[in-house]
Amino acid sequence: MAVQLPVVPQAPKQSVGAHVIENPFTEVNGEVHVPEVRIRDAFPKQEEKDGILEFKVVQNDGDPENMKAMVYLKDIFSKQLPKMPTEYISRLVLDRRHQAVAMVKQGTIIGGIQFRPFKERNFIEIVFCAVTRQQQVRGYGSYLMNHLKKHAQRVGIYNFLTYADNFAIGYFKKQGFTLEVEMEKSDWMGVIKDYDGGTMMHCALSDSIDYMEAPVILQRQRRYVLGVLKTLTTQHQRWSGFKEFAEYTKDKDPVTAVARIAADKFAPLLSTGWNPEGYRKLVSPAVQRKILEINRELLLAVKEDKSSWPFLLPVDGTVVTNYYSYVEDPIDIQTMERKLDAGFYITQDMLYSDLIRMIENCKTYNGTGNVYYECALALEARFIKKWKAIPLDQL
Ligand code: ACO
Repeated sequence: MAVQLPVVPQAPKQSVGAHVIENPFTEVNGEVHVPEVRIRDAFPKQEEKDGILEFKVVQNDGDPENMKAMVYLKDIFSKQLPKMPTEYISRLVLDRRHQAVAMVKQGTIIGGIQFRPFKERNFIEIVFCAVTRQQQVRGYGSYLMNHLKKHAQRVGIYNFLTYADNFAIGYFKKQGFTLEVEMEKSDWMGVIKDYDGGTMMHCALSDSIDYMEAPVILQRQRRYVLGVLKTLTTQHQRWSGFKEFAEYTKDKDPVTAVARIAADKFAPLLSTGWNPEGYRKLVSPAVQRKILEINRELLLAVKEDKSSWPFLLPVDGTVVTNYYSYVEDPIDIQTMERKLDAGFYITQDMLYSDLIRMIENCKTYNGTGNVYYECALALEARFIKKWKAIPLDQL
C-alpha cells in the first residue's frame, strides 16, 4: 500500500520544530488534481437568476406590502433570536429610522437583515440578521449580506458595524467582518445599540469591489494560484512505503523504524526537491551551530565508549567477504565523522538514524550470543540514554 513519505526520519520527541503544510493536491491516475474551490452563495445566486429568489429593501413607510414584510421579518427574527424579547424586536423592526433587506423565495420571506443607516457617519448598523431554520447553511445568509453590501455602495456608505451574537461570530467573519473596529470610536460609541452577549464587529467596504461577483472572482484567483502551485510542487507524489516500517511495526516500534532508515537513502525525498541546503535556510545559523555541537559531542561519546571498537571503521570486505551481501546500508563511526565534518547531519535525527542503523546492521549480521552483539546492545543503550538527555528544547 502506498503511504505518505515521512519528511525526515524522526526520533522520539527530538526534532527541531518544522512547519507542516497540508497538501492541497491529489493525484488520480497520474493526473494532479487541483482542489475544487466552492462558491458559498452559488445556490441562491442561481435561484435569483432563475427568478425564484428576490431581494427587497423595505421599511415602515405605510406601504401595506412593506408592512406585511416587516411583520414576517419580525417573526423570523423572534424565532431565530429567542433570547431577544419579542417586543424589543417589534419596536426596532417598526422603527421608521430602520430598514431591512428582505429575502423572498417564491413569495415567502425566508430571511432578512434589519439595519439602520448613519449616512453622515458613514456606517450602517446591522441590528438583526436571520434566515429561517430550514434554509440555513445553504449560502442564503452570505448572499443576503452581499445584497446589503451592494445596497450600501448604492447609497454611498462604506462601513458595517454590528454587535454580533457570540454564536454568530463565525458567520460574520466569513462575510468579511473583523473583531477590530477600524473606525474612530467617537464616530459610533454611544450611537449604536449595545447588547450583552454580543461582540462588536466591523466590516469595511470598498466601492471598487463588486460584492455580488466577489465570490466568483475569489474562486478564479484561488484556482489560478493553485494551478501555478501545481506546476511548482511535487507534493502530490506518493511513494511506496519503506520496508522498515512493515518490519518494525511488528515489533511495535515504528518510531525507531523510521530512525533506522538511512537519511542518505531518501531518494524519493531528494527527488521531491528537498535538499539539505533548503532545510539549512529554514534553520538559523545559531541553531545549526548548536545542532553540530550536539551531534559532535554525541558522536565523540559513542567513539570513546568501551563497546565502540567493532564500529570504529568500515567492515573490511576482503576479510569479511560476505558482509556486503547481507548488509545493504553499511555505516560506521569513521564514515559518520566524515559526514559530520561535511555538514551532512543538519538535524540531530539524521545522526541518530545512522547510529541506529549501525547497531541494527551489527545485530542482523552477527545474530545473538556473541561479543559483537553484546557490544551493539551496550553501545545502543548508552547512546540512547545520552540522546534522551540532550536539552533540545533550548534550540
Ligand atoms: N456560527 C459559525 N458559522 C456559521 C454560523 C454560525 N452561527 N452560521 C453560518 N455559519 C457559517 C456557515 O457554516 C458557512 O460557512 P462555510 O460556507 O465555510 O461552511 C458561512 O457561515 C455562511 O453560511 P450561509 O449558509 O451563507 O449562512 P446561513 O444561511 O446559515 O445564515 C445566519 C447565517 C444568518 C447566522 C443563520 O444561521 C441564522 O439565522 N442563525 C440564527 C440567527 C442568528 O444567530 N443571527 C445572527 C445574530 S447576530 C445579529 O443579528 C447582529
